[in-house]
Amino acid sequence: MNSQDYINKENKYGAHNYHPLPVVLEKGDGPFVWDVEGKRYYDFLSAYSAVNQGHCHPRIIKAMTDQAVRLTLTSRAFYTSVLGEYEEYITKYFGYDKVLPMNTGAEADETAIKLCRKWAYLKKGVPENSAKIIVCEDNFHGRTITIVSMSTDPDARKDFGPFTPGFITIPYNDLAALEKALEDPDVAGFLVEPIQGEAGVFVPDEGYLSKAYKMCNDKNVLFIADEVQTGIARTGKLLACDHENVRPDILILGKALSGGVYPVSVVLADDEIMLTIKPGEHGSTFGGNPVAGKVAIAALDVVRDEKLAEKAEYLGNIFREEFRSIDSEMIELVRGKGLLNAVIIKPKGGKTAWDVCVAMKDNGLIAKPTHGHIIRFAPPLIITEEQLREAMNLIKDTFKLFE
Ligand SMILES: Cc1ncc(COP(=O)(O)O)c(C=O)c1O
Repeated sequence: MNSQDYINKENKYGAHNYHPLPVVLEKGDGPFVWDVEGKRYYDFLSAYSAVNQGHCHPRIIKAMTDQAVRLTLTSRAFYTSVLGEYEEYITKYFGYDKVLPMNTGAEADETAIKLCRKWAYLKKGVPENSAKIIVCEDNFHGRTITIVSMSTDPDARKDFGPFTPGFITIPYNDLAALEKALEDPDVAGFLVEPIQGEAGVFVPDEGYLSKAYKMCNDKNVLFIADEVQTGIARTGKLLACDHENVRPDILILGKALSGGVYPVSVVLADDEIMLTIKPGEHGSTFGGNPVAGKVAIAALDVVRDEKLAEKAEYLGNIFREEFRSIDSEMIELVRGKGLLNAVIIKPKGGKTAWDVCVAMKDNGLIAKPTHGHIIRFAPPLIITEEQLREAMNLIKDTFKLFE
């Protein structure tokens, strides 16, 4: 079978809920992936920042395979020899009293919403069924009904109603709007991405997060950070909130928590919040399973031991500097933090961000447009400086094709 055969098969038998770049991958190693014809590419998407530790990191794969032959799943009906170890490890790693393990990012966001509501009723004294959570325009928190209920993206919502009530939407990066929304005494939480990833790597003004945190704190409202995409070293710190010394009341992590080898997500919070949820009130068959626990420990070990946050910070500066030196009318703006960056593309002669991505693919580097005119660049954080500079040359050569 060649690439087109694989594409045809997916089109024939799979739901058409994605529009992939026409490349069929079969192997990955570090910052590279290979297609079924054996061609090598730099991966500049990293599975939307899940593969921060690089493809098939040997330490993570070993942790997974060692555990997979011992015990994979018991459900939470029983204790396991791994879960407590994992819970101790991750709570100490991020500095919280407790963790609630789930699998996907969307599930962790759902969990955080439930936790916030529960806290509002049991601790804050909000009247039953009245709790509200403030969210931001252009957010992305996943795809479930409650999560798309918070979305302002028409594609995410159209024909999926009716929606879950209880959300107040304000513009992102707008403290005045937050202040006004916080006047409502039934507000329980403010759910925010420290950098809006899917919106096109929108970085808020410096001071936004720390001021928003303080405003929430003053009103006894939980500051809930969705760091599913920004967390785990991607932006040059362990958490994007660390750039402003903000410690979220509820922290949501996913994606790179497993280095991309397995769906692992968590919600972290202190006892006052986390212990409001009692046995039987929330859970997941797979959440906290032994393979997930071992994988997450290994993935977080790699982040610390290989100093991935420091690398992202250092290499991110090189990336933006190099990109800004490219002389192309199509490059309107380069923005980002650490190795989470985006470039806004001005179409030229009918050529769009999609055409640029296809041309980059032909040159040996894969990235994906978001919202039609933005390309996100997020290589695995284990990429070396030499590899990054080589990849930048592939990008530069691609833009020359459009001159
Ligand atoms: C900030 C953020 N939250 C949540 C999610 C959803 O994660 P998942 O696709 O694992 O459900 C994503 C996915 O891109 C994300 O970027």
